[in-house]
Amino acid sequence: MNSFLTSMHSGLRWVVLLLLIFSIFNAIVRRNTYEKKDRLLYMFTMVSMHIQLVIGLILYFFISEKVQFVEGWMKVKLYRFYGMEHLVGMILAIALVTIGHISSKKQTEAKSKHKRILIWYTIGLILILAFIPWPFRAGLLGNWF
Ligand code: HEM
Repeated sequence: MNSFLTSMHSGLRWVVLLLLIFSIFNAIVRRNTYEKKDRLLYMFTMVSMHIQLVIGLILYFFISEKVQFVEGWMKVKLYRFYGMEHLVGMILAIALVTIGHISSKKQTEAKSKHKRILIWYTIGLILILAFIPWPFRAGLLGNWF
């Protein structure tokens, strides 16, 4: 269960990243047309992030050994990253993408629907890229998959 959920969370990052990139690209090129497929793409992107949130919370509270609230944990890079930075950064990214999705749905014109996605999903993507524990970031023990 432990390594299964960790691997799932790690692998799903690529799905989230690809869907975000597709959505942003789609929002740029589609501009004046908005169909069911656009709505579905934007929705699946948001849902993939909500799945990460659920798995992440299970890892955070029940499974991960990288989350340790021992004395002085804020001074230990690994514990600070997973115990606070990753959590806060990702929840913020997920909240912004969710806000973007809701606000896009409220718009009536295709152009403004795509524009909302373009803005909020791009901010979400930047935050996610910044808070992923990439293997090249020293001291975070991250993997590629
Ligand atoms: C879209 C959002 C998220 C993405 C893309 C993401 C991505 C990742 C990645 C790539 C790892 C490293 C896995 C590895 O190297 O093996 C990781 C680890 C972790 N994530 Fe997330 N994460 C997200 C959201 C969250 C959230 C909201 C939480 C909630 C607290 C969370 C908690 C954790 C924990 C605890 C670990 C360490 C797991 C371990 O013990 O190895 N993540 N995450």
